[in-house]
Amino acid sequence: MRDEARAEACRTPAHVAIIMDGNGRWAARRGLPRLNGHKAGADAVRAVVESCPDLGIRYLTLFAFSTENWRRPREEVSGLMTLFRRYLRKESAELVAKGVRVRFIGERSRLGTGLVEMMEALERRSAANDRLFLNIAINYGGRDEMTRAARKLAQAVAEGRLEPEAVTEEHFAGFLDTGGLPDPDLVIRTSGETRISNFLLWQCAYAEYAFVEECWPDFTPDRLAEILSVFSGRERRFGAVSV
Ligand code: IPE
Ligand code: IPE
Ligand code: MG
Repeated sequence: MRDEARAEACRTPAHVAIIMDGNGRWAARRGLPRLNGHKAGADAVRAVVESCPDLGIRYLTLFAFSTENWRRPREEVSGLMTLFRRYLRKESAELVAKGVRVRFIGERSRLGTGLVEMMEALERRSAANDRLFLNIAINYGGRDEMTRAARKLAQAVAEGRLEPEAVTEEHFAGFLDTGGLPDPDLVIRTSGETRISNFLLWQCAYAEYAFVEECWPDFTPDRLAEILSVFSGRERRFGAVSV
């Protein structure tokens, strides 16, 4: 990367990815069932999405449900699936009208057909938009994504479409669910946990991280703006020396 490009990457995070964590604790602190926390979490998404274009963010990736979240009690999982459908029913028209292009990442075959149809419909309806690129990760796991990419790559080699020696990082990245998208510049995790939990393992090789204390339902556009201003002061060296 050229020096000017590196300096620029420090000022404007084109791609912000958020691990929206802490819904359960938000609810527990209020003596409410966990699902109320997930509802409040879904409500918090709207303002953050709407604030992105003004903050200069072009790509926003939200972690909504991981490949490991199936381990939760059955009622919580089905409650979350209902909430995803409700969110899409309520928000799709507005997202399309506001110029947001929505794309889902993650493995779809384990999701209900009703939900998948709504996801595909929104992807189609928003395909021509470009004001904000919103990626929603549902049944997403970084290892699962890389395993599926490796499978596609192996298939291409087996069919003689690709030589093993010709495989590059760009090839591999192209087989990921995020193919064609830039890597995240900044990853935010709410609720005070300081781990990645299998999120965008390949793509975050050089991301900056912000771990913040508030639970996701309390997260606001103002808080996002504050985090961006801290980010703008960081020096991203990408393995090189200071510019
Ligand atoms: C994040 O909140 C939402 C999902 C993982 C679906 P949590 O449900 O993980 O909330 P905590 O971490 O238990 O507080
Ligand atoms: C990560 O949060 C997944 C999402 C926010 C969707 P978790 O709450 O599932 O992660 P762990 O279990 O604390 O690592
Ligand atoms: Mg959690």
